[in-house]
Amino acid sequence: MSTLIQHGTVVTARETLLADVRIEGERIAEVGPGLLPRPQEEAIDAAGAYVIPGGIDAHTHLDMPFGGTVSSDDFETGTRAAAFGGTTTIVDFAIQARGTRMLDALDTWMKKAEGRAAIDYGLHMIVTDLAGAGLEDMDDMVREGVASFKLFMAYPNVLMVDDATIFRALQQTSKNGALICMHAENGSVIDILVRQALAQGKTAPIYHALTRPTLAEAEAVHRAIALAEIAGVPVYIVHLSSEDALNQVREARDRGLPAFAETCPQYLLLSIDSMNVPGFESAKYVFTPPLREKENLPKLWDGLKSDHLQVVSTDHCPFCFEDQKSLGKDDFTKIPNGGPGIENRLQLLHHYGVNAGKITLNRFVEILSTAPARIFGMYPKKGAIAPGSDADIVVWDPKAEHLISAKTHHMRVDYSMFEGFQVQGNARHVFSRGELIVENGQYVGRVGRGQYLRRAARGGAWK
Ligand code: URP
Ligand code: ZN
Ligand code: ZN
Repeated sequence: MSTLIQHGTVVTARETLLADVRIEGERIAEVGPGLLPRPQEEAIDAAGAYVIPGGIDAHTHLDMPFGGTVSSDDFETGTRAAAFGGTTTIVDFAIQARGTRMLDALDTWMKKAEGRAAIDYGLHMIVTDLAGAGLEDMDDMVREGVASFKLFMAYPNVLMVDDATIFRALQQTSKNGALICMHAENGSVIDILVRQALAQGKTAPIYHALTRPTLAEAEAVHRAIALAEIAGVPVYIVHLSSEDALNQVREARDRGLPAFAETCPQYLLLSIDSMNVPGFESAKYVFTPPLREKENLPKLWDGLKSDHLQVVSTDHCPFCFEDQKSLGKDDFTKIPNGGPGIENRLQLLHHYGVNAGKITLNRFVEILSTAPARIFGMYPKKGAIAPGSDADIVVWDPKAEHLISAKTHHMRVDYSMFEGFQVQGNARHVFSRGELIVENGQYVGRVGRGQYLRRAARGGAWK
């Protein structure tokens, strides 16, 4: 099967050019001007549209047990929703339960994804326990293509690990080449603030945000980078939300350290003011780290522009308002932490980033596709429009109008954090390994066609 995408503007992280793209089977065969359709070849007219590498969302939580419930999108609904918005690869998180082997966790998550995913998926491993065979388990994971690990400095008694565990994991990556991703918030300090708030009868959702100060994030980011520096390895800070935290990354990068960080659309576009709504409604915005004062937003955009932040992921971790967020009606600590967004990342970054002149089109491609592909060991199979790369391609219509709403979105969740946001720019055709899976707002893919993606350690981004 071969397809020719004609007359479009190919946009990569480095260049913008008028060129046609020929897909043969699962791969890109040719990129260049004036390619002619062959007999029996499917031709797609991309005039007026951008032809970009499929989005890569390096931070999702599908079908994940958390906060006394399970995230509401599974690999079928979540990856289909991702595809609608132009994302063709995700990297989700498997969780090592304390006292168990990582291979068992990997097996559990493989079973969750197998036969369900619409797009390709990789996995990070969340490390909760390095006692026993933990370090060997990490090496096993790398052999299985799980080339990155997430460790938590927050959520005491649930996922949080101590500095010794973090340091040992970091040191192990100097041998096996994996990348440590840090959830950087000082969980012990936050725990005290939370107890004090509850003791004062402060139980509303807003206190989730008010008990997690930006300095608790900055302190943990600083510590994570310092531990990585001592171990002599790179580190990647997930879902960075504040200027204070960004300053720590900037300082490290300015010293030449391989410190990487992502932020998410919610931290770029929403502030704690969104929680200023009556009743329990603000539980929709209970995720971690929380929304910040609006002064932080332009600083994060600057961070993206100046490459102090390299990636925008979603941290998609949806819980329905009606029957899941409501678990914390009388106590904010019982609200499952997380919010939906897997479908809207490209739309939001295109509209509020590119259209608003905050980032260039090439940077848009870089932060949403090429940089995560490089950092997480998928490049150039993913994240590129080049001969030999997987034909994960989005024909992006920059003029398409789209109203973001829970009434029309495809995520299995009953609200949108971006309800009523009117954006210009949307995916028109989405190809995953050469197969057309979304066409003009219709899903034309197949359940379970997505494949597990083995990722390489030492993706090379820090060389
Ligand atoms: O609130 C969040 N972010 N939920 C998902 C788990 C995490 O910390 O990434
Ligand atoms: Zn986290
Ligand atoms: Zn997360």
